[in-house]
Amino acid sequence: MQAENTGVDKHWWERSDLRYEGGSLRFAGIDPGEKANQAGTPLYLYSIARIRHNTGRLIAALEMTGTRHRVLYAMKSNRFVPILTAMAMDGMVGIDACSIGELALATSCGFPNRQVSFTATGLSLAEWERILAYPDVAVNCDSIGDIRKVAAIHPGRSIGIRVNPEIGIGYRQNPLLAYSGSGSFSKFGITPDVLPQAIGLARELGLRVEGLHCHCGCGYLDDQLPAFDSIVQTMSRLAKDLPELRYLNLGGGLGIPLSPDDKPLSLDKWAGIVRKHCADAPYEIWIEPGDYLVKDAGLLVLEVTNVEEKCGRRVVCVNGGFNLHPEPVFYKLPVHPVPLCNPEQLQRSTIAGNINEVADLWFENIGLPDYSPGDRIAFLNAGGYGASMSSNHCMRGQFHEALIPDRDGANG
Ligand SMILES: Cc1ncc(COP(=O)(O)O)c(C=O)c1O
Repeated sequence: MQAENTGVDKHWWERSDLRYEGGSLRFAGIDPGEKANQAGTPLYLYSIARIRHNTGRLIAALEMTGTRHRVLYAMKSNRFVPILTAMAMDGMVGIDACSIGELALATSCGFPNRQVSFTATGLSLAEWERILAYPDVAVNCDSIGDIRKVAAIHPGRSIGIRVNPEIGIGYRQNPLLAYSGSGSFSKFGITPDVLPQAIGLARELGLRVEGLHCHCGCGYLDDQLPAFDSIVQTMSRLAKDLPELRYLNLGGGLGIPLSPDDKPLSLDKWAGIVRKHCADAPYEIWIEPGDYLVKDAGLLVLEVTNVEEKCGRRVVCVNGGFNLHPEPVFYKLPVHPVPLCNPEQLQRSTIAGNINEVADLWFENIGLPDYSPGDRIAFLNAGGYGASMSSNHCMRGQFHEALIPDRDGANG
């Protein structure tokens, strides 16, 4: 197979804490290859400094909105305990939890109840009993059934209602990532036409409706901001009918560049939309991002196990499959592969995982160096929905995780 010149001085994904230095990849001040030698592979490597940087940027954007606001980290994206503990100690964010297990983990990592918001779907009465035993957690009801269950267990409780504003949003308009949409089915939330009935029922049953919530999709970038504008407009209009509202939760979904032609989300424009509809609102604006805080703060380092030509392609096989990071196969979201040494010559390759499934391909038609078994490869943007969504399919679910401390020594 023919080799090609990289012809690239700076790669699209390089930034000050993630780049080649002297020909070797450096991430958050360390050599991922050395770390893999110590810890073994598959290895999820996270940078707390990058998470703090992302969080700070987002909070600075919220400061421009003229609102009182709160960031709740969607821990479903990454629940590695050292990350949660560091976030709790930093005190910059609260938590968005979606199961009793997440609620218990968040509080055990140091998040006080009042900094936790709970939004889940498909909850049983028994689960609600355990959730409502956490006082001061803000709970959002996903259905009329949820409202009835909460009222039966805890009359007088303050609740929020998850709304389906019937507007979808997501990375490159991928329908697999849109949680709602005009005329399309969604299992989440209550549509605006049913909302008055839901609020009426809640009041009749003695509940206080103090929150409205929506989460309309994942991974959105600038091209989706018009949809975000419509979502915020709809939600702020619905909020006007609730003078007792304490919070309007606009969900997560803020995206990051995943491919060479993606541009970073403009937080200025994003904040301008929130400002336009919500400045000086009597309620707080809450958001619950996962990916935006952690996705680009994580690498997955795998080891090459075999290289050979199959069916006219050069196939590089690695020691981890889609069960370790399901997003590329489930949602067709790219995780960009990066050699640990900056290569000069590349060969068109397909990267295959080690799972007995046809779908188990990490990346197709990408230039890679002349790999041999034992070499390492890093997948970028693996900090969100990787480890937390992994499974033990084929009993190949083992991996290591490590958090790289801040350069100034604090790792939380
Ligand atoms: C209700 C809810 N909130 C927040 C999030 C976080 O989304 P993201 O990681 O895209 O910001 C999700 C993700 O599925 C969600 O379902």
